[in-house]
Amino acid sequence: MKIVALFPESDAIKNENQLLSTKKALGLQSFLANRGHELIIISDAETQLDSHLEDMSVVISSPFYPAYITKERIEKAPNLKLAITAGVGSDHVDLDAARENNISVVEVTGSNIVSVAEHAVMDILILLRNFLEGHRQAVEGEWDLPKVGNHAHDLEGKTVGIFGFGRIGQLVSQRLQPFNVKIQHFDPLNQKDLKGSQYVPFEELVKTSDVITIHAPLTKQTDNLFDRDLLSKMKTGSYLVNTARGKIVDTNALKELIENGHLAGYAGDVWYPQPAPKNHPWRTMPKQGMTVHYSGMTLEAQRRIEEGVKDILTRFFENRPFQTKDVIVEGGKIASSSYRVK
Ligand SMILES: NC(=O)c1ccc[n+]([C@@H]2O[C@H](COP(=O)([O-])OP(=O)(O)OC[C@H]3O[C@@H](n4cnc5c(N)ncnc54)[C@H](O)[C@@H]3O)[C@@H](O)[C@H]2O)c1
Repeated sequence: MKIVALFPESDAIKNENQLLSTKKALGLQSFLANRGHELIIISDAETQLDSHLEDMSVVISSPFYPAYITKERIEKAPNLKLAITAGVGSDHVDLDAARENNISVVEVTGSNIVSVAEHAVMDILILLRNFLEGHRQAVEGEWDLPKVGNHAHDLEGKTVGIFGFGRIGQLVSQRLQPFNVKIQHFDPLNQKDLKGSQYVPFEELVKTSDVITIHAPLTKQTDNLFDRDLLSKMKTGSYLVNTARGKIVDTNALKELIENGHLAGYAGDVWYPQPAPKNHPWRTMPKQGMTVHYSGMTLEAQRRIEEGVKDILTRFFENRPFQTKDVIVEGGKIASSSYRVK
């Protein structure tokens, strides 16, 4: 079987711990060779993927460094049976096209949820405490206390809104409890008070939160949901954290609302497209604590991802069912409840 896997290029000597790389490739080289399968490792989906569409059976890529499996690509891949997400979040695959073409889309659900939850809490603190200005001054030889203190806040007593209260959203709520904050969430599938968080309607979440953290998947419903109109309804001086998907937030509207002071800051690790172009507006936007997409890519998470990808492949080769939690699309249906929310 021909399996194509996309990984970021890695220096052969440096970054020896990184498992998601062309060098380590999640240990798939020997794993697949021992089972008699052909592994093609590519490092650039846009220039290297299309020539393999015709005869590949499985494609593997991670949300950090996604191969966009579009309808057009699916139509050119008659043998494709399985798209594996080496991580969590399978929006880089056209799920409807996968469904229509009987391709299974399977991810390693749960593999990096703690990693992302920790990152989101860190982002909330970085923004509220005005850490970035304090750090900039430390590095650049300044000591302008009024400039940093003027925008520094305690987290205690604030209202944190969690949009999407699934695995990661709930872990964020649990981790925020000791800060003595009011926590509220919106999630159509979790309309009850849970894990120290109060369920509120979406409008209320948007209008009353001092900081909103996004943890819903990218779907037709959430695509560009945080547009100019919605961002304008957020509290003046509030913050937005997004470790879910970049496309949930309108790129230019966000920049505008940060620049005109309506929003006090934005942080997260997700962009659209990825890798983010050098001139992506969020790179130069003020009051932002953006990183590249790595919150769910700690070494601990990478080990869980490796184990999960191998489990998915083993089940596929042995014709055994995938773990239910991992299945996003199968048998011509969207199987994951998170991706069926209307
Ligand atoms: N930055 C990263 O490295 C990273 C890593 C893992 C996951 N993620 C992103 O985080 C998302 C959430 O991950 P998870 O493990 O918590 O998934 P999950 O499926 O456990 O939870 C997602 C929740 O979002 C809710 N939801 C779906 N549509 C919604 C809508 N329209 N409005 C409000 N809520 C909605 C679902 O009901 C579900 O409870 C993933 O889909 C992925 O995009 C990012």
